[in-house]
Amino acid sequence: MKIVIINGSARKGNTLTAINTFIKGAAEHNEIEMISPDKLHIAPCKGCKACQCHKGCVDQDDTNPTIDKIAAADMILFATPVYWWGMTAQLKLVIDKCYCRGLQLKGKKVGIIVTGGAPVDNVQYELIRKQFECMAGYLSWEVLFFKTYSANAKDELAGNVEAMEELDKLGQGVK
Ligand SMILES: Cc1cc2nc3c(=O)[nH]c(=O)nc-3n(C[C@H](O)[C@H](O)[C@H](O)COP(=O)(O)O)c2cc1C
Repeated sequence: MKIVIINGSARKGNTLTAINTFIKGAAEHNEIEMISPDKLHIAPCKGCKACQCHKGCVDQDDTNPTIDKIAAADMILFATPVYWWGMTAQLKLVIDKCYCRGLQLKGKKVGIIVTGGAPVDNVQYELIRKQFECMAGYLSWEVLFFKTYSANAKDELAGNVEAMEELDKLGQGVK
């Protein structure tokens, strides 16, 4: 499969650790590309709806090349830290920009990885899961997994042996 990973974190911390561990398991059988919105220039969606009559977004920044990559993928992995009980602005920015090509995102396989400082029974993970469930329903996505990990300090997740094994196995499982 062609897998596109959208990394919602700006730091080399827990989310990147989770992504890299997933990649370790998935690399053998898949073509993988990671998108790091924090390193791109993507203006927020203005809701101008010009994209409904034109081919893509009117913004002449990294939006259209980024959405091209997502539209061409078989699977999208959304990975994000929790910021204020939700996904990060970096990830939401890209998701909002998918509005211009929503139909091309239909039927994708998706995975979701969330890292937050709070324990995994905190309501924040449920809120994020619900939001992705709604998107999945709207765009007929097949959700392969939704995984949450509690880790706060930058290198904390790397010390969680169980999580590392689970992420590696998750990667191995996608073909
Ligand atoms: C602006 C900001 C808001 C945060 N809000 C939350 C929150 O609402 N709930 C939570 O559990 N952790 C929160 N955190 C902690 C991060 O989710 C946590 O440190 C996470 O491991 C960061 O992931 P990263 O290492 O991939 O950047 C917040 C951190 C920042 C910087």
